[in-house]
Amino acid sequence: MRDPHLGVMMVGAQASMRWSLGLLVAGALFAGQPHAEVEARNDLFAKDHATQYQSWEQTQQSGERTDALAEDPNMVVLWAGYPFAKDYNKPRGHYYALTDVRETLRTGAPKSAEDGPLPMACWSCKSPDVARVIETQGEEAYFKGMWAKGGPEIVNTIGCADCHDTGSKAFQTGQPALHLSRPYASRAMDAIQMPFAKQGRFDQQAQVCGQCHVEYYFAAPTKSVTFPWVKGTTVDDMERYYDDIGFADWVHGLSKTPMLKAQHPEYETWRAGIHGKNNVGCVDCHMPKVRGDDGKLYTDHKVGNPFDRFEQTCANCHTQSKEALQAVVKERKAAVNELKLSVERQLVHAHFEAKAAWDAGASEEQMKPILQDIRHAQWRWDYSIASHGVHMHAPDVALKTLGTALNKAADARTKLARLLATKGITGEIPLPDISSKEQAQRALGMDMKQFISDKQQFLKTTVPAWEKQAKDAGRLSK
Ligand code: HEC
Ligand code: HEC
Ligand code: HEC
Ligand code: HEC
Repeated sequence: MRDPHLGVMMVGAQASMRWSLGLLVAGALFAGQPHAEVEARNDLFAKDHATQYQSWEQTQQSGERTDALAEDPNMVVLWAGYPFAKDYNKPRGHYYALTDVRETLRTGAPKSAEDGPLPMACWSCKSPDVARVIETQGEEAYFKGMWAKGGPEIVNTIGCADCHDTGSKAFQTGQPALHLSRPYASRAMDAIQMPFAKQGRFDQQAQVCGQCHVEYYFAAPTKSVTFPWVKGTTVDDMERYYDDIGFADWVHGLSKTPMLKAQHPEYETWRAGIHGKNNVGCVDCHMPKVRGDDGKLYTDHKVGNPFDRFEQTCANCHTQSKEALQAVVKERKAAVNELKLSVERQLVHAHFEAKAAWDAGASEEQMKPILQDIRHAQWRWDYSIASHGVHMHAPDVALKTLGTALNKAADARTKLARLLATKGITGEIPLPDISSKEQAQRALGMDMKQFISDKQQFLKTTVPAWEKQAKDAGRLSK
């Protein structure tokens, strides 16, 4: 049988052989060989960088999985026809990134390297192997093909080589510079006139997070990760960018709107918020310097909730108590959540009303301005809520953006009411039962049983085969 991974495996095996050689004679060789290849196996650094490694490993303590669709079934309707309607969990520790991208129903259950549904780009923010493959094979070769092609290659979860150049001598000797391991992120920073190499430490720290915690899309023809930042990083800038290039992530299953799906624009919303504007960066709150048992300062790599170590984070700059600041954040979260639900209510109605208008024979021309309102309203809603932690990072931005989303959804519904009236439809368009995730998925005719059983089979057979291939090729140590 032909092995579709053979070519890729060869490159990996050669790379890891060269690396082992490098390790054997590290000190001696580094003088003549300034740069070894990117090493993606995190556990190889457990000994030399013990405190950083151990704290990185502790991201597994944040293991709770929260089903966002079960909490808020409106989102199933808003994402109708798009993989997010199947499955969407809230983020948890970096330790789980690889597990979660394999386990989510969104990536499906591909049977061969050529099978869909998703492209290679879906690995991009999950693993240091992405940095390794891009370095050894180039960006074009990395992005080429479907997601399953990367299965035997992308096998270590978010770690050292995502933020550091693990092939550099500086990393070996314990004084690593930060490093953008994703060339597409580096180009995006250039586009906003903030080239990484020219930034101070503060901005470099935020930019390493901004390789993944950003808005991006998959650009044709190779479906490569691209940040829509050419006009800037605000919600309006990116909306104009997408409109100008006529981009849509998908066509909505009910309203047939060419939709935009916001990813998780933390970097963009943080920049626009009070801390970003005051040069307080991601690392000040999420990765503070702490003192180890040996009395030495090190960077705490347990990226998680900053309130868990209040003394080393907020209390560095604020005199209020932990309880007082937590109460402020909680209040803001509630305010954002309330407005979010109001927007969702309007948008859910708008999608069903648009469907009713199509069913009643509305023309493309009549629908065009309405669909544009729906597109913009939902983009604004998504930009606000998909940015995790926005109630902390930039609550004013979230509330303002949700306000404009509410307006645009109302515009769409006013136009729809007029249009429906011309078709003789005046009463309210009834909604199906969408009171739970399951009911909402049923209302959209989604066969979840099949997705779930296919996934279970995939996790039982395909993933272990990927891991075996990776171990045999020396890309995975445990
Ligand atoms: C999400 C990004 C990220 C990941 C993943 C990451 N680091 Fe770091 N690392 C940083 C940041 C930020 C600093 C602080 C740099 C500064 O002070 O400007 C740092 C600093 C360091 C330092 C310098 C000493 C110190 O403690 O400040 C070492 C050594 C280090 N990291 C090792 C590792 C190792 C080993 C891994 C993998 C187990 C790892 N890092 C994973 C972002 C990361
Ligand atoms: C290589 C991509 C990547 C980089 C770089 C990265 N992250 Fe993440 N981060 C993720 C992904 C993916 C998740 C969600 C993981 C999951 O839920 O499986 C996540 C989750 C998180 C979470 C949620 C943790 C929890 O316990 O709930 C926080 C907070 C976070 N990241 C902050 C940061 C900060 C701060 C930086 C920079 C120092 C950073 N991340 C760098 C991809 C990245
Ligand atoms: C001023 C402190 C501060 C800064 C700066 C900051 N964060 Fe946060 N972030 C927090 C707090 C606090 C939370 C948790 C809010 C809560 O408890 O509801 C959080 C939440 C998050 C979450 C969501 C975690 C989850 O499980 O839902 C992510 C992701 C995140 N931050 C990433 C970032 C990134 C990336 C940056 C920089 C671009 C950044 N943060 C800058 C304080 C900060
Ligand atoms: C490195 C310093 C620094 C750290 C760490 C920091 N802050 Fe701030 N914070 C600031 C600065 C500076 C401002 C702006 C003050 C101003 O303009 O009046 C601010 C403003 C605020 C405000 C009021 C602004 C508003 O949005 O209304 C709150 C609330 C706040 N911070 C909460 C937090 C919390 C919670 C944490 C920890 C998760 C935290 N900060 C961590 C420096 C910091």
